[in-house]
Amino acid sequence: MQKSALNVRKIRKDFPILKREVMGGKQLVYLDNAATTQKPLSVINAINNYYMNYNSNIHRAVHQLAEEATAAYEETRKKIVGFINAGSTDEIIFTRNTTEAINLVAYSWGRANIKRGDKIVITEIEHHSNIVPWQILTQEKAAKLEYVGVGDDGYLKIDEFAKYLDSKKVKLVSLSQMSNVLGTIVPVNEMIKMAHEKGIPVLIDGAQSVPHMPVDVQKLDCEFLAFSAHKMLGPTGVGVLYVKRDLLEKMPPFMGGGDMIKEVHKYETRYNDLPYKFEGGTPNIADVIGFGAAIDYLQNIGMDRVREHEIDITKYALDKISAVKGVTIYGPANATDRGGVISFNIGDIHPHDLATIMNDHGIAIRSGHHCAQVLMERLDVSATSRASFYIYNTKEEVDALISALAEARRLFRI
Ligand code: ALA
Repeated sequence: MQKSALNVRKIRKDFPILKREVMGGKQLVYLDNAATTQKPLSVINAINNYYMNYNSNIHRAVHQLAEEATAAYEETRKKIVGFINAGSTDEIIFTRNTTEAINLVAYSWGRANIKRGDKIVITEIEHHSNIVPWQILTQEKAAKLEYVGVGDDGYLKIDEFAKYLDSKKVKLVSLSQMSNVLGTIVPVNEMIKMAHEKGIPVLIDGAQSVPHMPVDVQKLDCEFLAFSAHKMLGPTGVGVLYVKRDLLEKMPPFMGGGDMIKEVHKYETRYNDLPYKFEGGTPNIADVIGFGAAIDYLQNIGMDRVREHEIDITKYALDKISAVKGVTIYGPANATDRGGVISFNIGDIHPHDLATIMNDHGIAIRSGHHCAQVLMERLDVSATSRASFYIYNTKEEVDALISALAEARRLFRI
């Protein structure tokens, strides 16, 4: 039986912050979810419960608190396996965020596998986390970074990608599954197949996709997947790196220290089993446990329904925003080809001015380069305004944005 649309009114009750008033009595309208999402009470309570009742370090002591904390931490790893359909918990590494996950691949796999003259292929839609680590690596190794272009319609130029793959020098492809600016959902299934035909491994940057749609690493068959907890109802400070087991087994450690070792002698060390070999030092225990509650929350709703809700609200918002006089919307026109992210400019109003006016109305949007300056250069703009949605956003909130945009146009006489 098909499940019904989301009960957004009920969902909103789970998020204490959504009751907040800002700017002297304006109801908060939170439309900055691509930057970070709000947290349901169950996540806040899980973190609170850990500190109140079983705060302890993990993987070390045999006392009861340590065992409870270890079990709760490892339970989140199991939940992630289910959430992205990984093969086993050995393939799931906790990091601080997507950025650290991608850096881990660049430093560990990259240093071992990228050589002088090799090429790494990324795209013009990447955010800085999926650009800068590859710049550092290619500069260090005298290798080359190549960019697949994006068309004016917001879609990647797949023919350019195919041409790059013809070069025997390409050793890695690293792709965002969804643009944090254009909202474009990238056809990663097809692109992974194309890369694999040439024997090239693929990293998927799922920072914007994993929170918003079903992602199955076995179906995708990607070698690496990186994402962050805080963009999917979880706390900040927790990221995930999935790596296919056969690759992970061959990867050298990223950070040396406690917990990633089996034996340490004066001049040599035997490393721990997977995945602990890649988790040096005391990790972010409380927030990993909080992340487990976030995954439960999303699983309860179902990622198909999360996606359906976002298509619905994005379609509504695209129609409304595109009717605003003087507006330019960036990215695909079709809501089903995008995630719940809409970047736009209105006339020559600077995005920071527009965001300030929105804030006066209690509406939180992001303005700026969105950590994607390469894409800003490609779009030939210094910045955009961006509204981004999640499970608790309503069409009434979109209407509030539209009225505030009309007010901004009046102020700027556009
Ligand atoms: N990458 C995050 C954003 O798009 C910070 O806002």
